[in-house]
Amino acid sequence: MINKIKQSFSTRFSGESLMIKSPGRINLIGEHTDYNNGFVMPAAIDNAMYFAMKKNGNSILDIHSYNYDQSIVFKDLEKTDTPSWGKYFKAILEILHEKGFSIQGVQCVFGADLPIGAGLSSSAALCCGFIFGLSELFDLKIPREEIAKMGQAAEHRIGSKCGLMDQYAVLFGKKNHLFCLDCESLEIRHIPFQLENHTLVLINSNIEHQLASVDSEYNVRRASCEKVVELISKDFPKIKSLRNVNSSLLEKYKHKIQPIDFQRVNYVLKENKRVHQVINLLEKNDLEEVGNVLLQGHHGLSKEYEVSLPELDILVDLAKMEDGVLGARLMGGGFGGATINLVTNENKSAALANIKKQYLDLTGLECKIHEVKIEDGVKVI
Ligand code: GLA
Repeated sequence: MINKIKQSFSTRFSGESLMIKSPGRINLIGEHTDYNNGFVMPAAIDNAMYFAMKKNGNSILDIHSYNYDQSIVFKDLEKTDTPSWGKYFKAILEILHEKGFSIQGVQCVFGADLPIGAGLSSSAALCCGFIFGLSELFDLKIPREEIAKMGQAAEHRIGSKCGLMDQYAVLFGKKNHLFCLDCESLEIRHIPFQLENHTLVLINSNIEHQLASVDSEYNVRRASCEKVVELISKDFPKIKSLRNVNSSLLEKYKHKIQPIDFQRVNYVLKENKRVHQVINLLEKNDLEEVGNVLLQGHHGLSKEYEVSLPELDILVDLAKMEDGVLGARLMGGGFGGATINLVTNENKSAALANIKKQYLDLTGLECKIHEVKIEDGVKVI
């Protein structure tokens, strides 16, 4: 992909370009906890978005998408007729402008070997990679923390009220490490993660998820959590997020909370605990039990937080039946995308072949299988 992007750049434009690699991400555990100031455990992966960028000495931003084979040109920020991928660039340029960063003209070709809508954070890779690239080109020295927040702001502007997990994974990933992010303090703890006899495998349901619509179910879940925080904070003004709510406090408010909101908030509290459980289990190298926690996580996402789809449940159920699979769960926002599976190397081929075949028989869909390699976060290459 790097060569294809370089080649496409030199056919459209000329001269040497700056090359940026901006990775996708996985998340081992801690789903829908980031926007509740909880804990997550992501990592950056080998699949990535690549940007070839060069200053052009004028004020025109000429951006070409290799994957869509479409271009957009920004002469000003009023441009409204952009294809859907162009909205991200427009939002980023607006945000940089509002923050007082001075950006001049750029020629850019970008493209990814990162499936779009598969729950691997292609949009965070795009936003953070482009801001990082501009920061390098114009020597803006924007700290990574700030890039993450701008990337998040761009997504919010487009419609998905996401947390910060994806942006942090793209920016702070480290080869062969997971990291635990405390989404309240934004403190990062890298955890060495090199499996010897096991592999993390993504199984893409082949159903694209759509989080970026203002009234999407994602935002509805977030609103459920915020409603409960608002109620409790009337009595406890110091409580600003679910991070400061424990199960006994939640229980006291049960009679005042809609059952569905209670169910969702209860899921979030349990999911935060699962992150700490997995940290402890990894320290003991107890992968069997990590697998069980992943399955519990999926149960919560499917039956309590209700962000699964029948196809994702089928993938997890099929995985559960395989001896070689220690655990599986849907990964990311839900409503499509991929499951993450912890698989023993010994039984990997047989297990994955069985899942693939049965998924096709049951749903008529081809799933795509990808073995995870954990890589560094965004960088110049
Ligand atoms: C999406 C969002 C993240 C996070 C996950 C769910 O990927 O972008 O901020 O909320 O869903 O864990």
